[in-house]
Amino acid sequence: MANKSKFIDYIDGALEKSKETALSHLFFTYQGIPYPITMCTSETFQALDTFEARSDDIVLASYPKCGSNWILHIISELIFADSKKKYEYPEFPVLECGDPEKYQRMKQFPSPRILATHLHYDKLPGSIFKNKAKILVIFRNPKDTAVSFFHFHNDVPDIPSYGSWDEFFRHFMKGQVSWGSYFDFAINWNKHLDDENVKFVLYEDLKENLAAGIKQITEFFGFCLTGEQIQTISARSTFQAMRAKSQETHGAVGPFLFRKGEVGDWKNLFNETQNQEMDEKFKECLAGTSLGGKLKYESYCQA
Ligand code: A3P
Repeated sequence: MANKSKFIDYIDGALEKSKETALSHLFFTYQGIPYPITMCTSETFQALDTFEARSDDIVLASYPKCGSNWILHIISELIFADSKKKYEYPEFPVLECGDPEKYQRMKQFPSPRILATHLHYDKLPGSIFKNKAKILVIFRNPKDTAVSFFHFHNDVPDIPSYGSWDEFFRHFMKGQVSWGSYFDFAINWNKHLDDENVKFVLYEDLKENLAAGIKQITEFFGFCLTGEQIQTISARSTFQAMRAKSQETHGAVGPFLFRKGEVGDWKNLFNETQNQEMDEKFKECLAGTSLGGKLKYESYCQA
């Protein structure tokens, strides 16, 4: 297992800052998108413009709560199986989080570097495209994403809570949550899913057949693994396996990050009006688009 102490230190620091932060003061806006002050700063965003990507960087792009920690784990397992070297997290792996000097330090890190990000497509540093880094884009159905996001805020003791699910839902639909609107994120990515060096993965497909998903990811990044290695990695990457180790890998927040890991949990929180509102929003933003089809909304978001 990768040594994640830097990872845990960073999360613990962000939680410490969260303790003193009221929900009304949690966000600041940078270039039109709200971000949590506990994880992002405008100085770091400015420094990000100078970030030099490498062609062998592994970029993992997702909206929050779509399974980024799951994919991060799978990728570090793939690197380990392929190179026999443990993937050490030299920094917290979310590209836009941390201090402005992190991009200088990252110049020294060995390849491949894992760059997770929740940035919208048009906010990614240009060097990722210029230098042709491969980008894996992970999506999850918007209803379960919203429910997971709500629980994260309201279950983790140190993170500011919303007054109710209804209040969170209103903010989510307006994009007034960390990293902005799910739907804007999706509209932006929709135009680029067939670009060279981009691969789309659906959370629900991974739940359905994890080994098949891992095989596709392996091929996309050009790792050399046997079928047996893929089976072993998929056994170590189930929700149960990851939750069991979550405190070791992610610290105190672990069990909250690996909360339930199911498809369809939205049915426990959405009321009929909220259902209709999200169905309408989906139609307006994504119906008939390439991503709209890929998300299989009828299967996963209709009761
Ligand atoms: P739930 O809150 O619905 O349980 P992120 O890592 O982007 O913050 O996403 C967190 C969500 O991914 C959580 O959803 C978490 O349980 C789920 N998740 C993490 N690892 C998983 C796994 N191995 N299998 C299924 N879901 C997983």
